Amino acid sequence: MKILNFGSCNIDYVYSMDHIVRVGETLSTYKLETFEGGKGLNQSIAIARAGAKVYHAGCVGEDGKMLTDLLSSSGVDLTYVKTVDGKNGHAIIQVSSKGENSIFLYGGSNEMVTEDFVDSVLADFSEGDIILLQNEISSVPYIIDRAHEKKMCIIFNPSPFTEEIKNLDIGKLSYVLLNEVEASEFSGQDDPEASLSYFESNYPDLKVILTLGSKGCIYQENGTRYRQYAFKTNAVDTTAAGDTFTGYFVAGLYAGLDTAHNLKLASAAAAITVSRMGAAPSIPVKDEVLANIDSLKSGEADSKSELLRRQIFDYIEGNVAEASLPELASILSYSAIYTGALIKKTTGKSFSELLQDARCEKAADYLIHSDMSVKEIISAVGYENGSFFRAIFKEKFGDTPLQFRQKKGKYI
Ligand code: RIB
Repeated sequence: MKILNFGSCNIDYVYSMDHIVRVGETLSTYKLETFEGGKGLNQSIAIARAGAKVYHAGCVGEDGKMLTDLLSSSGVDLTYVKTVDGKNGHAIIQVSSKGENSIFLYGGSNEMVTEDFVDSVLADFSEGDIILLQNEISSVPYIIDRAHEKKMCIIFNPSPFTEEIKNLDIGKLSYVLLNEVEASEFSGQDDPEASLSYFESNYPDLKVILTLGSKGCIYQENGTRYRQYAFKTNAVDTTAAGDTFTGYFVAGLYAGLDTAHNLKLASAAAAITVSRMGAAPSIPVKDEVLANIDSLKSGEADSKSELLRRQIFDYIEGNVAEASLPELASILSYSAIYTGALIKKTTGKSFSELLQDARCEKAADYLIHSDMSVKEIISAVGYENGSFFRAIFKEKFGDTPLQFRQKKGKYI
């Protein structure tokens, strides 16, 4: 079995600045650095640094020597890298002081991957070989069709997402590795778990790796979901974190690592990438990941508590009139006493305080946007005692419901 990564190589121009520039704004930057990058190149380097043999296929421009130099010194096989006339692809990357980024791309050489070139590369690969793809080169749908005909194991990272990609037959893929936004584009679902259910029902053979940023990732195979929490790190530059995860994950598949261990290793490698500047140069070798994996702090506790917060608020806001502590406890599969204590610990408020807040917010919404009477609203949010509700509403908003409507509502 061989690994082929057909992908982009970019020169990354990285500008460090206070914040990502806004529409119409002109902003001075702190510094400009140039790094080797491109989703394809980053993922090949991650695979090689994770210890697996990888063939990179793609086109570099006349100015792309720094890219082939790094690929080669990282141990990537360059047999299928072609130098073409004209400029290499590049990326303009803004990195804010919080480590967030914003990227725009110039395709250049990456747009020169022709169908003939694809055929000549794929001629050397066969059934069972792994082919990894992202969406930064030309001819991606063609590569998928040919690789599928050859019964290769296709791993696709549909990034950056485009309309063309949306129309692909994802049934031809073996694995799809995508983020929440990309998953929602394919599935039409906003909720990540609902997106996974969409893939499970419509493409039961497809293995899905859904990355959730600082919340980690979920891997789905044959109806089973594995969750890996992200490691906490001092975020300097998030560029190539996803590529590192992907490369390590693919190398782990190739090595036959157990799924949970593979996800953990890939997440630890990504956390190290985030802690330094630049794309490819920031990707760690496997020894470094192994040496640090025990000292990296898991974000599991934070993610779990965030999930619980969401469940509590979703339940209360979705059931303002009838919400009850015993019902929420049974949804969470805990006793009512334990749930009450957990709610206080997680949100800083008791169940009844949260419910009271949610009812007041809902009533305020009705007062502004509906023509229901105050009496009807009081009953719709679950109160029988009108004077009690008027008192808590006034305490929260500083006005009685009627005064509030007179000031803010459309209907008086
Ligand atoms: O995923 C990060 C990469 O996206 C950068 O290296 C940049 O080149 C863009 O392709």
